[in-house]
Amino acid sequence: MVKITYIEHTGTRHEVAAEPGLTVMEAAVKNNVPGIEAECGGACACATCHVYVDEAWKDATGSPSQMEEDMLDFAFDIRPTSRLSCQIRIKPELDGLVVAVPAKQF
Ligand code: FES
Repeated sequence: MVKITYIEHTGTRHEVAAEPGLTVMEAAVKNNVPGIEAECGGACACATCHVYVDEAWKDATGSPSQMEEDMLDFAFDIRPTSRLSCQIRIKPELDGLVVAVPAKQF
């Protein structure tokens, strides 16, 4: 299992043991992490799974695809570390990943 920490905008932390192969969005939804709505179910078509990847994990999580970049334009308060969590596939190398959840998705 891969440990992922989600930090709500209030500072509340949720540590989740996630199965590799799931996405960061799926692991959040499965573990009832608040703030990730994922309306499109992971099709990169809604931008309601927006998170901020911790600086230290930016390289390990890779860069967004062009499709993800385009969809991120619709997200609330995007920053250089913004990603759509449905587009980050969990792998053993991401053990310890930290992401922050924005105050709202729209
Ligand atoms: Fe819709 Fe990620 S769940 S874009």
